[in-house]
Amino acid sequence: MKYLIKTYGCQMNVHESEKLAGILEDMKYTPCEKEEEADIILFNTCAIRESAEQKIYAHIGELKKLKKENKNLIIAICGCMSQQKNYPENILKKFPFVDIIFGTHNIAEFKTFIEKRKATKKKVVDITEVENIIKRDTMPKKRTSGVNAWVNIMYGCNNFCTYCIVPYVRGREISRPLEDVVSEVEELLKQGYKQITLLGQNVNSYGNDLNDENCTFAKLLQKLDSLNYDFWLTFMTSHPKDISTEVIDTIASSKHIFHYLHLPVQSGSTQILKLMNRRYTREAYLEKIKYAKSKIPDIEFSSDIIVGFPTETEEDFLDTVSLVQEVGYAQLFTFIYSKRRGTVAEKLDGQVDLATKKERLRRLIDSQSKKATEIAEKYIGKTVDVLVTDIHPKKKGFLLGSTFTNKNINFAGDSSLIGQFVKVKVLSSKLTVLTGEIVKE
Ligand code: SAH
Ligand code: SF4
Ligand code: F3S
Repeated sequence: MKYLIKTYGCQMNVHESEKLAGILEDMKYTPCEKEEEADIILFNTCAIRESAEQKIYAHIGELKKLKKENKNLIIAICGCMSQQKNYPENILKKFPFVDIIFGTHNIAEFKTFIEKRKATKKKVVDITEVENIIKRDTMPKKRTSGVNAWVNIMYGCNNFCTYCIVPYVRGREISRPLEDVVSEVEELLKQGYKQITLLGQNVNSYGNDLNDENCTFAKLLQKLDSLNYDFWLTFMTSHPKDISTEVIDTIASSKHIFHYLHLPVQSGSTQILKLMNRRYTREAYLEKIKYAKSKIPDIEFSSDIIVGFPTETEEDFLDTVSLVQEVGYAQLFTFIYSKRRGTVAEKLDGQVDLATKKERLRRLIDSQSKKATEIAEKYIGKTVDVLVTDIHPKKKGFLLGSTFTNKNINFAGDSSLIGQFVKVKVLSSKLTVLTGEIVKE
């Protein structure tokens, strides 16, 4: 019996697919790569932008023929798209051949859903919002990201940025108990994982719901940093309004935490930030960046930007371009604003036309690529610590790795080095990617 999971969206989904794969493997399913070979195909979906949903719909549609040829094939859909109100009905109307639909709150029930489907031959639909966090966290996991392991520290989001669907499909913030996170990380380090990535929609509000002053994000980082293993630690995502000076100080004095921060700004215009309900100003954001740079001189930043939010003027947009230049991001994830059903921004006047959005996106990307190239060039000639993560998919005899500032680097070497820390001298750079050679200590 074979399974295939198609994952869309963010790291949260990537990790949840590892949990869903864990359930399938416990049921004696083995992974396969071709749809034709699969006995069960699961779509773990994303709803963040309309384009994401369109892509997923197209892929589900392609399975109609396969299902006709193989009546026993089970097609299941889960994740953020199916969690939206009325979506299961819509999905079944569009694709009557789908067998199982469940949401983001009940992934731990996947086995029950499959058994139910097999026993009754009826459609199984369950998107009820019951949060059984303990059950979810003890799920088996089929980890697939090499030397890195993902660890959830919290679920959900309370922020309701006016453009965003996530709070509606992921529910309110729930933090995992601190001891649970620490013991999961320690177990992973014992198993030999070299990089740990903590996951949450807003990791800086970790612990707010736990009512225990010892359970803050800074305290969690300090505790994890004190673990006596050879490893690197990183996390995502930080909300600029919540990241504290204590967190930045903790990174500065830590041994294991990346000198890298993904701190999504979304816009450089205070007026637009207000309409987005981000609850910080351009100046307050830049102040936090300045503080981090003063404490951690070699820190690198990345960010998410939305262009074309309702009412965004050329002037607002230019504020974004100038902020991006001022911060100097090593990497930028840029998006065209997409209207999401049920959000506050959906109802705002002043929607920006698509041509203007596309044109702004292009200009932003152009100015960023110049900046990112300059940032990467600064590494040339330096010797950096690198965690070897993989073999290079294209360059024969080459390996891939990451620096402590989260830059991708490639260099010649033997695959036995994967999972080890090495020193690499940077020889050249292309856009954001570095090339170098291993130096012996
Ligand atoms: N919790 C994280 C990630 C949210 S989703 C955070 O707060 O940063 C990842 C990114 O998608 C967001 O940062 C935002 O830039 C983008 N995004 C969210 N909703 C969007 C929408 N309706 N249209 C376009 N981009 C969107
Ligand atoms: Fe969405 Fe804002 Fe929550 Fe991030 S913080 S998930 S952008 S509502
Ligand atoms: Fe998408 Fe859900 Fe992540 S909407 S970005 S998969 S939290």
